[in-house]
Amino acid sequence: MKLLITGGAGFIGSHVVRQFVTAYPEYHIYNLDALTYAGNLENLKDVETASNYTFIKGDITDALFVDRLFKTHQFDGVIHLAAESHVDRSITDPLAFVKTNVLGTIHLLNAFKGLWGSNFEGKLFYHISTDEVYGTLGETGLFTETTSYDPNSPYSASKASSDHFVRAYGETYGLPYVITNCSNNYGPNQFPEKLIPLFIHNIIQNKPLPVYGDGNYTRDWLYVIDHARAIDLVFHQCKQGETYNIGGFNEWKNIDLVKLLCDKMDQRLHRPKGQSEQLITYVKDRPGHDKRYAIDASKINETLGWQPSVTFEQGLEKTIDWYLGNAEWLAHVTSGEYQSYYERQYS
Ligand code: NAD
Ligand code: TYD
Repeated sequence: MKLLITGGAGFIGSHVVRQFVTAYPEYHIYNLDALTYAGNLENLKDVETASNYTFIKGDITDALFVDRLFKTHQFDGVIHLAAESHVDRSITDPLAFVKTNVLGTIHLLNAFKGLWGSNFEGKLFYHISTDEVYGTLGETGLFTETTSYDPNSPYSASKASSDHFVRAYGETYGLPYVITNCSNNYGPNQFPEKLIPLFIHNIIQNKPLPVYGDGNYTRDWLYVIDHARAIDLVFHQCKQGETYNIGGFNEWKNIDLVKLLCDKMDQRLHRPKGQSEQLITYVKDRPGHDKRYAIDASKINETLGWQPSVTFEQGLEKTIDWYLGNAEWLAHVTSGEYQSYYERQYS
């Protein structure tokens, strides 16, 4: 099995690369990543010398490069995570999201089709997507695999578009695919622009915690290593042409989550109870802010036997411990120092 993982230097991708490199020594894992601001090879220091692992620096928006890469390595499988992934950035620069998330995905599909189009036997294109494609929920209800797409941000619109292209290549060209739509991930190695790592970083630094709007927005949180386990299971046991929703059965209003995080950080930093909460600052709301996401993960649970392995409290404690124990990683990320790691390591 020659397996291409795109976006493997990012947050979720690095956990997926580690999962496959360590669990499947008989596979060869190729990690293709452009190393944008979100890609950090320091996430993969522990596996970078493994004999079944190769890092390739490259951009999925470069069609000729992608095509050549597939012809050279003849990938049997693709797990596609590379994306622009931050909603707030998509509001200021939607085109970057169209380029990577839509065009980049199409270039990968074309290269995969170009390689195996006359015989797809034993091949799989696995597209990693998000629950945000379904839009927003009211007070009740859950996203299922048949919920209509209704994306509200340029990020979710670009992911929805890429999902449609993957499905269309399946219908039109018989390309074997699977799609998973996952809820919000948290855990080690997440870039500190997303809610949980940003707030951990700010609490350490005694900086304000910018809560958007009234803080009464709901997200369904999943520990990233449980997502990586789900991806492993889906890659090996899915029914092709299907979609699976992945979620933590774990809904939190932002403000409640932030208060829990403050509480746990006070304990870990030996600060008086209530100190970190004083950093909470309500700021201008995000435009088009989705009110509530919540996943019905019963399909993957019932058909593949997957369920989260940690509770939210356990996952959050592991995450806090990781950030406090990896001050150097955090310092490199916040100073930009991590971006020179590639030159030092691979030049
Ligand atoms: P991330 O931003 O941490 O990582 C994205 C990675 O893709 C980075 O390493 C970046 O360098 C790489 N990349 C970006 N543009 C590229 C390009 N043009 N060519 C090659 N590589 C490029 O993102 P993440 O949070 O790890 O998300 C990974 C995937 O999972 C995305 O597809 C995202 O939509 C999806 N997802 C994320 C979440 C979440 O909560 N983070 C939830 C559900 C689904
Ligand atoms: P985020 O981590 O950006 O993920 P997503 O937008 O994909 O759900 O945000 C999670 C929630 O936290 C979302 O409702 C927006 C909110 N939020 C804040 O209130 N303040 C912040 O500084 C950030 C980054 C997010």
